[in-house]
Amino acid sequence: MKNVADVIIEGIDELVTVDPGDDTREEGDLGLIRDGAVALGGGEILAVGRSREITETYRLTKGGMRLNGQGQVLLPGFVDPHTHVVFGGSREHEFEMRICGSSYQEIAARGGGIRATVSAVRQTPAEELLEAGLRRLDRMLCYGTTTAEAKSGYGLSLESEIKLLEVARDLNDRHPVDLVSTFLGAHEVPEEYVHRKEEYIDLLVDEMIPEVVRRDLAEFCDVFCEEGVYTREESRRILSSASKAGLKPKIHADEFTNQKGAELAVEIGATSADHLLAISGQGLNALRESRVIPVLLPGTCFSLGLDSYAPAREMLQWGLKVALGTDLNPGSSMTESMPMITTLACVMLHMTPAEAIVGATLNAALAVDRADQVGSVTQGKKADLILLDMPSFRYLPYHYGVNLVDKVIKNGRLVVDGGRRVQHGDNP
Ligand code: NIG
Ligand code: FE
Repeated sequence: MKNVADVIIEGIDELVTVDPGDDTREEGDLGLIRDGAVALGGGEILAVGRSREITETYRLTKGGMRLNGQGQVLLPGFVDPHTHVVFGGSREHEFEMRICGSSYQEIAARGGGIRATVSAVRQTPAEELLEAGLRRLDRMLCYGTTTAEAKSGYGLSLESEIKLLEVARDLNDRHPVDLVSTFLGAHEVPEEYVHRKEEYIDLLVDEMIPEVVRRDLAEFCDVFCEEGVYTREESRRILSSASKAGLKPKIHADEFTNQKGAELAVEIGATSADHLLAISGQGLNALRESRVIPVLLPGTCFSLGLDSYAPAREMLQWGLKVALGTDLNPGSSMTESMPMITTLACVMLHMTPAEAIVGATLNAALAVDRADQVGSVTQGKKADLILLDMPSFRYLPYHYGVNLVDKVIKNGRLVVDGGRRVQHGDNP
């Protein structure tokens, strides 16, 4: 008697499991199986192996779906561990100003930057933010992202931060992409508190964090620890109080200047430390002795036209589990594309294609505390898979700027086919 599956994908040229499995699998951490197959059922991965093994042991349930992966590579759905996906307005003029020579910091000082998006968000009704968010999530899904982190941080008042977090919750309910919610009330100091930052921090600690927790609107709390934004001491205070209230810490650390953000991430037991362009040798050493996941965002350096990138090779040499994300936001990295990020990781961070794929899947899942559910093609994990039209996994970073994703399967259901969204009526 054969086992039954809702979906069988067989004849896959390269099945990249990102799970080393037994010694029949190739390419180390990628756990590659040639002529591979998967059986899916109940939204989960039931079995992974060679086509022959799977077809001999599984049959399709009535009305089930059989796909052939010939000429294709199968990967776990991408996990994007750092996004600011919920926002209003856009800042393409700042992009142009930078091309003409202004820096990100100069533009922010002249009234642009994060505060410009804060004004836009405060004026935009939740329904409009939701519609814009749905379009972005559609694009993410078509480029292979099946789980993403979503930060607030463009409201900077109790009311507007709650509005952003509620939009993220509604997006999660209405869209196949799974969102992991992060409260980033300390993304910037709001205009009205510029000369009394302490008071805003009191508000964060005494009112905003408790209210976010009371309403169960976030799992993580993040802080932009940077010169001119929040100091290390301020970041420590905000994240410690968040941590006591039950939110897991994350930090925008050492992005433009070294603030010993990586060391702070280790000290407070953050799940991830993100950006890290200006990390010091001491910061690297601290990360080495911790479980903090470094999240690198090369799209930001690229879009800002910076000369320096995070020291990914050193991190990898020390055995750190380097994760990659888009940092999707209207100011410094306007992209939904994880494949593009793997290209930048290879070219600018000198990561190998295999390291970039692990960074965009399993390590990214670790960075949002979801590695028990997603990030690899492993029996028992969610059936979140992507099929790409390419002959080998090395094409992902190599053939850049185009979308090679043909099919996306989310929770065992086909949600993208031929590179386009499949609509399932009301049911996401
Ligand atoms: O991750 N660093 C802080 N926040 C964003 C930029 C946000 C913006 O410019 O709107 C980042 O790069
Ligand atoms: Fe960011």
